[in-house]
Amino acid sequence: MNFFLETLKVLFLTIYLLFESIILWFIPSRRKNVSGELVLITGAGSGIGRLISLEFARLGATLVLWDINEEGNKETSQLAKKNGAVRVHTYTCDCSKREAVYKVADQVKKEVGDITILINNAGIVTGKKFIDSPDTLVEKTMQVNVMAHFWTCKAFLPAMMASNHGHLVSIASSAGLIGVNGLADYCASKFAAVGFAESVGLEMLALGKTGVKTTIVCPYFINTGMFDGCTTKWPRLMPILEADYASKKIVDAILKEQVYLVMPRSLYLIFAVKNMMSVKLGVLLGDYFGAFHFMDHFKGRVKKD
Ligand SMILES: NC(=O)c1ccc[n+]([C@@H]2O[C@H](COP(=O)([O-])OP(=O)(O)OC[C@H]3O[C@@H](n4cnc5c(N)ncnc54)[C@H](O)[C@@H]3O)[C@@H](O)[C@H]2O)c1
Repeated sequence: MNFFLETLKVLFLTIYLLFESIILWFIPSRRKNVSGELVLITGAGSGIGRLISLEFARLGATLVLWDINEEGNKETSQLAKKNGAVRVHTYTCDCSKREAVYKVADQVKKEVGDITILINNAGIVTGKKFIDSPDTLVEKTMQVNVMAHFWTCKAFLPAMMASNHGHLVSIASSAGLIGVNGLADYCASKFAAVGFAESVGLEMLALGKTGVKTTIVCPYFINTGMFDGCTTKWPRLMPILEADYASKKIVDAILKEQVYLVMPRSLYLIFAVKNMMSVKLGVLLGDYFGAFHFMDHFKGRVKKD
């Protein structure tokens, strides 16, 4: 096709897709049935991972729960059973270690079967200025928050591709779309997680594997404990999200096969402005929204003895 014809086709399709997205805004989306699906959730032992597990338990999915914290993972399993889960399998896995991921993944394939919904949720945060962040924690952050996604995808994506059926879910962060003062290594890991998920999603489309879906989740702070002490300057505009609300929105986005979920909605506007305005204006607005001080009082999750 020559340049003129192809440009005309793209212009026509752009207008068509814009209208389609406006119309779809008003039509309730279809939710997929996940009963019988094999759902693996990393970091299922607490916070968002636990709450997502309980939502999938209610929906009749078979759960495969991974966490480095055996006790927390077992608690989630018990809660999931109380919430109606019939099949729950727990595995202790340190997702920061490639060999451990491959070993436990092989065990899952033998004992449970091929995973059809993979939710990469496990995450950690250093919470210090970059210059004060210990090298070991910087490395660990990259290993848990993004490299683990490489290894779980390597382990479970081939079966999804073979059957052209599956769903890759990346619990990233709004810190994967915009830099934050005091979160340099975390932002780096989350930007990487977003880029990885987006690219693998495109690879699936390019390969015609349209049955393998992608959902990328980019929330602002959620009150799970991970970011305890962090503050928001304008709570009405950018509220700290309730964990229960956030996990319900995440599961709903998965059921709707929504590619991006950014929470709260005001962030869509902030990101659009960031990408269109000058750097100086971006910095001014960042300061106005409190981005320089989010982390000033960070305590994080206080470890139990
Ligand atoms: N809480 C927030 O404000 C917030 C905001 C945006 C994104 N997120 C992201 O959401 C995800 C869940 O966060 P959360 O708030 O529920 O945190 P959380 O600390 O409550 O849960 C994280 C879970 O990951 C597990 N984990 C940590 N390291 C692991 C490892 N090496 N191997 C296996 N499991 C490991 C922990 O044991 C824990 O159960 C994370 O990826 C986080 O970055 C959180």
